[in-house]
Amino acid sequence: MAACAAAAVSSSIAALTCERSASGSTSSVQASAFVGTKVSVCRDASALLRAVNAGSSRQALVAPVRAQSVAAPAETKTSSSSKKTDTKQTVIITGASSGLGLATAKVLADSGKWHVIMACRDFLKAERAAKSVGMPKDGYTVMHCDLSSLNSVRQFVENFRRSGRALDVLVCNAAVYLPTAKEPRYTADGFELSVGTNHLGHFLLANLLLEDIQHKQNDNERRVIIVGSITGNTNTVAGNVPPKANLGDLRGLAGGLDGVRSSVMIDGGDFDGAKAYKDSKVCNMLTMQEMHRRYHEKTGIVFASLYPGCIATTGLFREHYQLFRTLFPPFQKYITKGYVSEEESGKRLAQVVSDPSLNKSGVYWSWNNQSNSFENELSQEASDAEKARKLWDVSEKLLGLA
Ligand SMILES: NC(=O)c1ccc[n+]([C@@H]2O[C@H](COP(=O)([O-])OP(=O)(O)OC[C@H]3O[C@@H](n4cnc5c(N)ncnc54)[C@H](OP(=O)(O)O)[C@@H]3O)[C@@H](O)[C@H]2O)c1
Repeated sequence: MAACAAAAVSSSIAALTCERSASGSTSSVQASAFVGTKVSVCRDASALLRAVNAGSSRQALVAPVRAQSVAAPAETKTSSSSKKTDTKQTVIITGASSGLGLATAKVLADSGKWHVIMACRDFLKAERAAKSVGMPKDGYTVMHCDLSSLNSVRQFVENFRRSGRALDVLVCNAAVYLPTAKEPRYTADGFELSVGTNHLGHFLLANLLLEDIQHKQNDNERRVIIVGSITGNTNTVAGNVPPKANLGDLRGLAGGLDGVRSSVMIDGGDFDGAKAYKDSKVCNMLTMQEMHRRYHEKTGIVFASLYPGCIATTGLFREHYQLFRTLFPPFQKYITKGYVSEEESGKRLAQVVSDPSLNKSGVYWSWNNQSNSFENELSQEASDAEKARKLWDVSEKLLGLA
């Protein structure tokens, strides 16, 4: 179906386009939005010390630390007393404090079969969010994890291990989207924020937790899910709205995305927040496939990605103009008809976590208008095996994993 422009919505809202996917199932958005993250003050001196002692070459190389992780309790007390007798399966969901992550956490916790570890950067917000949607108390634990700090990611993994839970499923869901940012922002380790958070933070987390998933004692199915997006796929109309995703030869990423020794963009170009988000989503989809190639046969772990649909109401658009945020959901609902509620998107992701029929590894899932899942096709770049291998190597090197 053809793309449609949203000039009718507001002439002051730039470049809003939406489209139906090839399957006719859903729509996607390219919008002039401004979505940011908090820059928090680090009060956890021991954590910083640990990172230094760990000999993070990255930290030694990147001079100014531009953001740091917030000190927070390691986990809520909600369920720590009951975990020893808990027979539920365990899923970690990053960014479960709002939108898709929260909706998915609720579906899984409500089922009574899952204990959700809500891996969130804003501890209190996550706790309040869980309460506000009525998640059962024994169905979740909030644990601090700021994906824009490698130290915080490592500390989260340590804290999770101390919890004594066996990990069944990891969902890499959190993301930031900065389409109208004029200047780049950076992670604590000096990487451009969108790719640093959405790709590198998750890459480290998934690599560290693979060990835990592999060595799990029970026979439950184990899965690693990395949320993708149609906007990173140039085989769709939405993916063709400029600026298009393009990782090029990864020269910016290889240089560290720091804006000093290298470009802040993966392909080495000038900063563009919307492109950085799309690039990060291509990285997410490539990472899933590379993990599938490297580990599925050896470990039996199922690796998957998905496009949950256009969830027009989520915090992804939180810093956009108020007018945009008011008009965007009805525009999606009544004009493009591509609107997906947070509740529906949560059911979709929960399916990828737990539905026995969605157990094929290496798949990028999408849903049609009847909300039936199907295996979708990725763009040429998002399915380029050679690029996936190179992305893996460069990312490993940057994060000190290689
Ligand atoms: N909305 C859509 O139409 C759409 C379409 C396709 C794909 N997606 C994907 O769906 C996923 C969820 O997005 P959403 O729409 O649900 O947006 P959202 O409501 O803004 O959720 C994003 C989550 O990521 C968290 N987050 C951001 N930076 C973080 C960091 N440094 N460390 C830890 N957590 C961090 C946020 O935490 P705070 O609550 O603390 O801010 C929030 O919980 C993303 O991967 C996005 O790319 C969304």
